[in-house]
Amino acid sequence: MDVHEARQSSTWQNAVVYQIYPWTFAEDSGREPQLGHGSIRGIEERLSYLESLGVNAIWLSPFYPSPMVDGGYDIADFKNVHPALGTLEDFDSLVKAAHAKHIRLMVDFIPNHSSDKHEWFEKSRRQEDGYDDWYIWHPGSVDEHGEHQPPNNWASVFSIPNRKARERGEMHWLHEQEWTPPISAWKWDDVRQEFYMHSFAVEQPDLNWSNPYVREAMKDAMRFWLDRGVDGFRVDAINHIGKNMELPDEEVNTAYNEEWYENPYDQLQKFQSCNYPRTLHEYIWEMCQVLKDEVYEHRDLRMILEAYMGESDLRDIDAIAPEVASTFNFGGLLASWDAGSRKIQMDYYYERLLRDAVANQVNGNHDKPRLASRLGDNGARAAAVLNLFLPGMRFIYNGEELGLVDAEIPSWRLQDPNGLRDPERTPIPWDDTLPNAGFSNADPKDLWLPANQADAHKAVMRQKQHDTSSLSLYRAAIRLTHELPSAQNGKYVPLHTDNDQVMAYGREDEETGDQLIVLVNFSRDKQGSVRVSDSHFVIGEQVLSSISVEQSSHRVDVRAGVALEPDEVSVIKKL
Ligand code: NOJ
Repeated sequence: MDVHEARQSSTWQNAVVYQIYPWTFAEDSGREPQLGHGSIRGIEERLSYLESLGVNAIWLSPFYPSPMVDGGYDIADFKNVHPALGTLEDFDSLVKAAHAKHIRLMVDFIPNHSSDKHEWFEKSRRQEDGYDDWYIWHPGSVDEHGEHQPPNNWASVFSIPNRKARERGEMHWLHEQEWTPPISAWKWDDVRQEFYMHSFAVEQPDLNWSNPYVREAMKDAMRFWLDRGVDGFRVDAINHIGKNMELPDEEVNTAYNEEWYENPYDQLQKFQSCNYPRTLHEYIWEMCQVLKDEVYEHRDLRMILEAYMGESDLRDIDAIAPEVASTFNFGGLLASWDAGSRKIQMDYYYERLLRDAVANQVNGNHDKPRLASRLGDNGARAAAVLNLFLPGMRFIYNGEELGLVDAEIPSWRLQDPNGLRDPERTPIPWDDTLPNAGFSNADPKDLWLPANQADAHKAVMRQKQHDTSSLSLYRAAIRLTHELPSAQNGKYVPLHTDNDQVMAYGREDEETGDQLIVLVNFSRDKQGSVRVSDSHFVIGEQVLSSISVEQSSHRVDVRAGVALEPDEVSVIKKL
């Protein structure tokens, strides 16, 4: 088998990847006492659910020991399981059970930073032998008042708390300043008497990737999980690992204003503190080599890299090792929900896709407001079908398949004061006849995040019984995408319609001749008769509607025009 053939058969090429946020997914029923948050065993207990949904792989968000300053993305030990979530044995058992169901497991890997409670940081701040420059340290300067000043203007991504504080009237000394300043990416450390750099929270110091020992340690952590059987990594904030170590100031973003931008962090450009191609590409290449090592190469391992960057910078990263790694395609998630914007984004994405690359589609994650909160119930269903029929890995954020919405979290229960992302991280409702909708048997006040009452009626047990529920729609759509040759292997075909509220694309499998068209009505109005100008087939059959789910038996004359309900997506297969 040559390399290209091997890639064609890659299990990732057409995989549905389900993101689990372990703290709020499911607590195993056997745990005594119940703690009120999810567990690794709880995930194993729900594997049948994922199997029946048609999931091919799980992406497990951080489950590592962590002080939980950033929802687990502040890691105190890269090679262990948070004791509150379980043990390494539980993890091994999960891998085995998932594999037995042909579900692969991808774990979140966080190369850019650790927790300040990690022993490496403790050693580095004490300048213990060999650990001196595992993090990014600098003495800065001393101003005329004798105050320590950081070495440059680099800012922390988590600068929203400044803005919130100002809105609460707590930063009165800023009354004359138009814009709220970002939070510095530098923190003075009293122990070492130097500043350290943190791209995110103060408690998340950035690792120094220019130090080869750090790179080796991180690659060693990757191998640790690969040796336990994981099938790949979702790699966090990858664009931050490459920095200009000469530490020049970032330039000011002249487009910034507080009306359009939510985060004071965006006042600066991002060319030096992150997105620094010279080192970034080299480090990504090194990580890719781990997966391509002869010990692992037969295992079809994969990395999906998280980076918020411009499209052409992303394509440069995608070109590093397309056979094992690609960046998340956030274009669709970030584009506004209208036919024109989505079409431009999708056509461009598939046109630029490298031959060996695996495409991907994303409708949400633990950092973004929930899909149904953004687009409404029917809009969310439309976005789901739109994405599921596209080529590549299709990501589903847990609860998205149920149409869950953002919760209002009382301030005293917030877990994420830095990023304010608790609303989209509440517990999954499994069965609303049980306490906490079946998520956990703990006292509700002990839940890590409260259950969202607005979601109770969307519990899995209920939705299973309704043919038109959001869950049934996801199941039907995924099943079809695994059955229809055009949806499995077909290339993406850009199509045009005669209606600017309706977008269309096709899938075509050259080998079998199987074809389908997906029509998406982005408006809240019915569209009478939409014509697809460049379709290759005339007579088809609707195999899925995002509204009614069920297949309609009637034939559709595509050239004569297709009627669409408000927010409807119709999938039509060539007859
Ligand atoms: C991206 C993760 O998705 C987010 O949740 C986290 O806060 C930052 N990276 C920092 O690790």
